[in-house]
Amino acid sequence: MTVNVAVLGATGAVGQRFIQLLAGHPQFTLTDVTASAASAGKSYAEAVRWGLSTPLPEEVATLPVSETAPAAVSDDVELVFSALPSTPAAAVESDFAEAGYMVSSNASNDRMAPDVPLVIPEVNPSHLGLLDVQRDARRTTGAILKNPNCSTITMVPTLAAVRDAGLERVHVVTLQAVSGAGYRGVSSMQILDNVIPNISGEGPKMESESRKLLGELDGDAVVPHPMTVSASTNRVPTIDGHLETVFIETADALDEAATTAAMELFPSADLHSSPDPLIRVFDAMDRPQPRLDRMRGGGMQVTVGGIDGTQTGMVYNCLAHNTIRGAAGASILNGELLLQTGYL
Ligand code: A2P
Repeated sequence: MTVNVAVLGATGAVGQRFIQLLAGHPQFTLTDVTASAASAGKSYAEAVRWGLSTPLPEEVATLPVSETAPAAVSDDVELVFSALPSTPAAAVESDFAEAGYMVSSNASNDRMAPDVPLVIPEVNPSHLGLLDVQRDARRTTGAILKNPNCSTITMVPTLAAVRDAGLERVHVVTLQAVSGAGYRGVSSMQILDNVIPNISGEGPKMESESRKLLGELDGDAVVPHPMTVSASTNRVPTIDGHLETVFIETADALDEAATTAAMELFPSADLHSSPDPLIRVFDAMDRPQPRLDRMRGGGMQVTVGGIDGTQTGMVYNCLAHNTIRGAAGASILNGELLLQTGYL
């Protein structure tokens, strides 16, 4: 028995990743796809500008695109994945929760809402308890679960691995791929032969989301981790895969061997899309690289290299596929966690 699922915003850059990753998924069957009113009524093949390197799955090509509203989605759908931009997501995700659907959303709205769980299953599965708080507060039968921003997801598993050393300060500089800006994101004339500093809104998301993810669920609320996070975020002309340089300062001193061991031993989750190991550490100082390493573990593994000491702590580079581990794959993994924990 599989669970019937829908993808909201199925024609966009992240939506297409959902379609690709759900094809042949052992626990989920995609029955419904939605997009804007301009696409509704077309077949998925007519509505989408398919941009991925694997062919559009045949069983999806003929699916009709619905409007993005609960009444337009089949009644036997139990789980709704949201690949919507944040503005339409803010307007409709709560409608789906009110109508009884579980919503696993990649959209950035409400990630920091106190009653919305922000979850990476390998890092903070216990935060799922906020779903009950949310249902009580909002009087809904469904509920909304979020995964973090793609640049946050790349770094946070590596921080979780060393948290026992007492994380105090984190500084991160990102080199982020263009697919993170959506299909119509940055124009080729802007990004080719170029780097665009300071991606709008990205730094504050990394700073607040990381602290929520590593925080403790205490009763009805998450108490954020006390570490400070300072982020500088930059768009570079790679297509997929965010590379990040992370500097950490910890209460207990770490060295290269202890940092490497903590990351290599950090456990994956017992879920279909969680890779084992979760974090792969390279000895080579010139790895990870986006083109070589973004598809490891089906695009769900975090790769790390260049672990070294600094005058104040440790530094390393980490990489993850931003539209798989950092977006569609993250929401699907959260869906698998909902199923494992009985929320579906
Ligand atoms: P459409 O293709 O019909 O515009 P991206 O972030 O890559 O641009 O993708 C955005 C996704 O969200 C697309 O599937 C897009 O559909 C959909 N979308 C955009 N605006 C709305 C809206 N107001 N209501 C519902 N879906 C929307």
